Amino acid sequence: MSSLSITFPDLSANTPVGIIGAGTMGRGIAQVAATSGHSVFLHDTNPQALESARAHLKRILERLVEKGKLPPGQDAEILGRITFLSDDLKPLAACGLIIEAIVEDLAAKQTLFAQLERQVAPGTILATNTSSLSVTAIAAACQHPERVLGLHFFNPAPLMPLVEVVPGVATASEVVDRARTLMEAWGKTPVVARDTPGFIVNRVARPFYGEALRILEEGIADVPTIDWAMRTLGGFRMGPFELMDLIGNDINYRVTETLWKAFFYEPRYRPSFTQQRMVEAGRLGRKTGIGFYDYREGATNPAP
Ligand code: NAI
Repeated sequence: MSSLSITFPDLSANTPVGIIGAGTMGRGIAQVAATSGHSVFLHDTNPQALESARAHLKRILERLVEKGKLPPGQDAEILGRITFLSDDLKPLAACGLIIEAIVEDLAAKQTLFAQLERQVAPGTILATNTSSLSVTAIAAACQHPERVLGLHFFNPAPLMPLVEVVPGVATASEVVDRARTLMEAWGKTPVVARDTPGFIVNRVARPFYGEALRILEEGIADVPTIDWAMRTLGGFRMGPFELMDLIGNDINYRVTETLWKAFFYEPRYRPSFTQQRMVEAGRLGRKTGIGFYDYREGATNPAP
């Protein structure tokens, strides 16, 4: 289908933005968009995720005021721009851009994109925050794949400047231009990357996690030692296990598995049994209170 008849919105600050998925990434992206002046509609199928996102954003914004990084009163103003949607998705029809940040699963994302396309205006730009899936495959679920692109934010989204902008095979160049301009307006540094598994950063990062897990499995060093070595001697801000706990072991495992399969079972990207068992045990990291480290009150570390 041709994009010639479609006019894409200019995505200025008065354009409402929809965000689907209120987890780790969706809530952070909502904060960024609302801080830049947009009305934001944040949707999640899980009402608890929405409640937790609201409480998290309130706390974070209040803290920014306390630290003098936001003028007094701005916290309530920014939060007031975010509408939390559990089931009525009609407000999404007014959005010029929708950013999806749901589970890292191709079928789930394709179903969502096909459904979204029926609910939004013809020119609405649809973005996926996928870390490792094919943007082209997600877009293929749409009647108008030219409006779909990847906008890959990093965690935590309000603090990390890089955003990978990933056109799929059919994405209109105008959509890429609008998205780049918007990311700059949000204070981000957009980098266009080709639609290949893991794009730039997640591909480079796989061996960082993978080798750390192999070092652990081979009994060469334990979790805190590996993290300490990479922080203190390697110059990284966080060690690999601290980072996996921050990202979420479920997401990290899924990304590795996707890259491994997408690169035709390339051994360099093979996922780890240790991480697979952690996911099965619900030890997802900070978000469940326990991962490689125990974040619960009174806990001793590393997690036994
Ligand atoms: P998360 O597990 O923290 O949150 C996902 C949220 O989506 C959950 O609240 C869940 O209830 C909701 N959800 C699931 N299916 C839904 C649907 N059909 N409709 C509406 N809501 C739905 O996941 P996280 O970490 O925020 O990741 C989201 C996406 O962002 C994934 O594609 C991931 O690969 C990507 N990403 C994750 C990063 C990280 O560090 N965690 C970094 C960059 C990208």
